[in-house]
Amino acid sequence: MTVLYTDIGELVTNDPTQGDGDQLGIVADAALVVDGSEIAWVGRRADAPDADDRISCADTSVIPGFVDSHTHLVFAGERSAEFAARMSGQPYGAGGIASTVVATRTADDATLLAGVQRLAGELHRAGVTTFECKSGYGLTVEDEARSLRIAGAVTDETTFLGAHVVPAEFRDDRAAYINLVSGPMLQACAPHARWVDVFCDRGAFDVDEARHILGSGMAAGLIPRLHAGQLGPSAGIRLAVELGAASVDHCTYATDEDVETLAGAADTTVATLLPGAEFSTRALYPDARRLIDAGATVALATDCNPGSSFTTSMPFCIAVAVRDMHFTPAQALWAATAGGAAALRRSDVGVLAVGRRADFVRLDAPSYLHLAYRPGVPLVRDVVKAGQQVPHSYNEVESRS
Ligand code: NIG
Ligand code: FE
Repeated sequence: MTVLYTDIGELVTNDPTQGDGDQLGIVADAALVVDGSEIAWVGRRADAPDADDRISCADTSVIPGFVDSHTHLVFAGERSAEFAARMSGQPYGAGGIASTVVATRTADDATLLAGVQRLAGELHRAGVTTFECKSGYGLTVEDEARSLRIAGAVTDETTFLGAHVVPAEFRDDRAAYINLVSGPMLQACAPHARWVDVFCDRGAFDVDEARHILGSGMAAGLIPRLHAGQLGPSAGIRLAVELGAASVDHCTYATDEDVETLAGAADTTVATLLPGAEFSTRALYPDARRLIDAGATVALATDCNPGSSFTTSMPFCIAVAVRDMHFTPAQALWAATAGGAAALRRSDVGVLAVGRRADFVRLDAPSYLHLAYRPGVPLVRDVVKAGQQVPHSYNEVESRS
């Protein structure tokens, strides 16, 4: 079954062989053909082949589906009071994670699954067609393993984050917790995860601890990624590059040396920026232009979590990234699509080209520029994932990212 999507006023492909040869590969007056779950043809609508079915996009803009490479969706409770306190002047710290850990441990599986499905539905309706999801609010062998099993109901991109913080019961014996995370907890979680992550920052884990935990995860067959440089300058950014991590996330306090290191590792390690976190913790935004001009590969992600960034909106992140992180609109869109795909080492998504997965978003706008130009306006009109229209209720489908 082939479907021709035509009358696309502006098609962003992320394929530089299309259009003017720039990074976004924009085709004006475009069309694309979907065959089952894949893209079968992309080009000018005047040249489009016949198809079994035909859908007019009424001169609106079509972009690749967003790829959100950093979320924490498996949790119970919420922390709006902590947010209000921050907006009254309190600082953000890793300590708030503990309250979500208590709520998550006491929640039953059905409650956690319902929360994950609700947030996955929000992501999909906001145009995200692939997303990663971390554990990290269980912090016992059984609670981390069940967090990953529940995350696996909505995505294949699951990340073991047993090293989110040291839980209260291990406060006086960090070494014992690190042994647990890199031993029995890892063994129980590895079958349910693709990635291993550590929160390497003030109040969480230091660089030596992160090196040890990531090394154990890699020995168990997981691929490393890392949280670093959110709360202060951190050698974690260089550790991520040293270990060949797919991504190092936050990078809020990246130094010149870090930027140079990331630029030298552009084919291996993506710098993932999380504007929702700076927004929601009232922190200073990192300068994306500095990373991009140096040659680093940069992604944007929501970091959806109940503490530091409770948003599922990539359009919101793009608008903030453009306004406050000095991305151009084109750089921000690329970072939220192809950049996210690079951060997840996925070549099947993030680009609209023949043979790639048919994941795209039709905007209620003539140009992708409106994502930043019209902040807060719900411009995502239709979301197509693997050739299928995403339904309004996520529970209607058995969908995996
Ligand atoms: O990515 N930084 C570490 N983890 C989350 C915050 C978690 C929380 O505050 O609950 C983040 O921002
Ligand atoms: Fe995070």
